[in-house]
Amino acid sequence: MALRLTVIGTGYLGATHAAAMAELGFEVLGVDVDPTKIQSLNDGDLPFHEPGLPELLQRHVSSGRLRFTTSFEEAGAFGDVHFIAVGTPQRAGEHSADLTYVDSAIKSLSASLTKDSLIVGKSTVPVGTARRLETLVRETTPPGVRAELAWNPEFLREGFAVEDTLRPDRLVIGCKSDTAERRLREVYAYSLSLGTPLICTDYETAELVKVAANAFLATKISFINAFSEVTEVVGGDIRILADAIGHDKRIGRQFLNAGIGFGGGCLPKDIRALQARVSELGLDRTMTFLNEIDEVNLRRRDRTVFLVEELLENLEGAQIAVLGTAFKPNSDDVRDSPALDVAARLYASGAEVSVYDPQANSNSAKRFPRLNYCDSIIEATEEADVVLLLTEWQQFKELQPAQLESLVRRKNIVDARNVLNVCQWEEAGWQYRALGRKSGS
Ligand code: UDX
Repeated sequence: MALRLTVIGTGYLGATHAAAMAELGFEVLGVDVDPTKIQSLNDGDLPFHEPGLPELLQRHVSSGRLRFTTSFEEAGAFGDVHFIAVGTPQRAGEHSADLTYVDSAIKSLSASLTKDSLIVGKSTVPVGTARRLETLVRETTPPGVRAELAWNPEFLREGFAVEDTLRPDRLVIGCKSDTAERRLREVYAYSLSLGTPLICTDYETAELVKVAANAFLATKISFINAFSEVTEVVGGDIRILADAIGHDKRIGRQFLNAGIGFGGGCLPKDIRALQARVSELGLDRTMTFLNEIDEVNLRRRDRTVFLVEELLENLEGAQIAVLGTAFKPNSDDVRDSPALDVAARLYASGAEVSVYDPQANSNSAKRFPRLNYCDSIIEATEEADVVLLLTEWQQFKELQPAQLESLVRRKNIVDARNVLNVCQWEEAGWQYRALGRKSGS
């Protein structure tokens, strides 16, 4: 009989994994403690924006292959393999990860198991967590039932989550037995048939692969952004610099887009949690460079605000148009979004801030209700003293100066993602500012 899967936690990661597994032919039960989310998913309504996922969800909810529940008892009786995909956010006021949701999911699930099962952690956790959870599973599983734990980090990118889940560029499994590995080979048979590399290893390596990958990506972004600080002083073109070093195959061009920096639910909290964890391990100096990565990243936001202040002199009463609040395009996620942070700071400095994001207005309004949320570029830029491009949605990248000229009060634009054609805007008489560019050059 085909394996039956459960996915505990139905956020960006879990909902995608559940729908993708159903697409691959498994019967899947998604589990979450939030009844509103479960209701919505059972109705085929995805509670967040992710391209391609609504279609998958609707298809498999209709076929009956994909269901959602709040009941761990149902999950325990249903599944052969249980994926843990709950969040591990940054702990309030600290750098370490909050493992409350992981611990609670593992406890509730293990206690509800009625047959031998494999539990597979997908959440990003500090190294050493799987080993601790293995004991927790042993202690909470009912007598007579055998449960094994494996760790299988997830590398999906928001905006490409479906593709990354169906066709990942590698699979990593940390486990302790051939049985666990065999089961996961069954689950991932489709990816493996495409030649996807599979790395089978121990818990610690599997946990570290995920944080190492994210720390490396964050480092790449802050590396190019640190050079932005130099070109802002001496002149030069950060985009050309990135292209030129990117031609070196050992470096590569990806993740060298200079701009307002990284945000989202992963990179910022993962580099902080990694540093906190290695300090706990007595390696105080080992990851201190990540502090610098974080600081370079946050300074990009200061610089963006500074560019606006420089253009307007006085923010009090100024009319500012913000294009984009999501942490990146093709997402409605505003967790640790540099764009939303800058919009909020400008508002706090006394400016009137009109905002338009194609998908993230509603999530942004929950965090900062006082910004003026608009339904279009036109509405947001009306009477603007300065226009800020903060998230590189395709429609913003394609903006032409002529589209805004009759709307704005003053022709000032800050391109915080380095995506516009400088000459075109300057030739049309705009004051163009960008990160990584000497002011007014
Ligand atoms: C990231 C990892 O890429 C993914 O593998 C992991 O599973 C989860 O974390 P995600 O958070 O979806 O994925 O976003 P990503 O595409 O990595 O972008 C992160 C941030 O970096 C965004 O704010 C983006 O705008 C920024 N970024 C990215 C840059 O500023 N410059 C770049 O060149 C690339």
